[in-house]
Amino acid sequence: MAVFYDNPALRDHWYALATEAQLRAGPLARTLLGESLVLYMDPDGKPVASPDRCPHREAPLSAGHVSDGVLVCPYHGWSFGQGGQCIRIPSANPSMPLPRNSHLSRFQATLRYGLVWVCLGDVPQALPQIAQDDDAAFRRINSPVEHWRASAVRMTDNFLDIAHFPWVHTGTFGNSQRTQVERIELEALDDGFFGYRYEVEAENPLGAKLVSGQSESTVHRRMSTGYMLPFAVRSTIHYETGLVHIILMLSAPVDDVNSNFTFVVWRNDDFRVSAEEAIEFDRMIGAEDKLMLERIPGVLPLTARGVASTQSDKASTAWRIQLARMLGIEQADPPA
Ligand code: FES
Ligand SMILES: [Fe+2]
Repeated sequence: MAVFYDNPALRDHWYALATEAQLRAGPLARTLLGESLVLYMDPDGKPVASPDRCPHREAPLSAGHVSDGVLVCPYHGWSFGQGGQCIRIPSANPSMPLPRNSHLSRFQATLRYGLVWVCLGDVPQALPQIAQDDDAAFRRINSPVEHWRASAVRMTDNFLDIAHFPWVHTGTFGNSQRTQVERIELEALDDGFFGYRYEVEAENPLGAKLVSGQSESTVHRRMSTGYMLPFAVRSTIHYETGLVHIILMLSAPVDDVNSNFTFVVWRNDDFRVSAEEAIEFDRMIGAEDKLMLERIPGVLPLTARGVASTQSDKASTAWRIQLARMLGIEQADPPA
């Protein structure tokens, strides 16, 4: 039985399902909240998200191909252009009108931050805001959407959690970090995120040197981490050199225990490192989290007393309470 993914409250939110580059190479098959979707870029360069079922005989359109923005079904070649309109039925006499139900039904889809966002509901809530996206001092770097065999609830909890750094991130930045977490005070951060600020001494190995622009073996980082419902987490790293590195981590539930994951980085650097190099270290960190999370079956409980929590879980606990409220289910534990 589904724990959360079929909850209707989740349908009115935007979820990142592909990068623009992935969309251009489409059609793409994606599952969001149990819905099988096909995504493609239409002749106007706009994203189209539709059920992955041809209106003719229900073949998966994602197994077809896109040519000049036209999605062609692999079964009988029916073709769909701007906004999912059927424009060609190869077996039919072209002078005959197209059947009224030959067009694709569509979900709302939009491009933002180099990503395709899809909302299955009628009235989407706001997309996460990242003010630096409009700031010429910052560049934006995307990482392809990946499939994680992990619950979006566990992923979001993990991205809000800093107590795992010295345990899980020993291959990247966590080695020199103290295990004890200072008292966390939750606050409203900028751009509508809610979370906390903290400072860390982070390991600065070779890959991290490229990102931090510093040569020391450890670097001091002032950080903030916060969430926006349902599954967006933003971490901002301020280095002592003035470099700011922002990571927006986005989980989109396939179902309760599988998710689409991507992250976007904004940084005010001098372009000395390539985009690929600038996010390689974050990709390695993400791989460490993925390895751990894919070992943990099921959904992180949202209900009271489902799991034990401590002071360092404060942000995750606040987020779980809000998520549980949004889903209209029993409250999670009170904050530690
Ligand atoms: S099933 Fe798609 S064209 Fe027939
Ligand atoms: Fe992590």
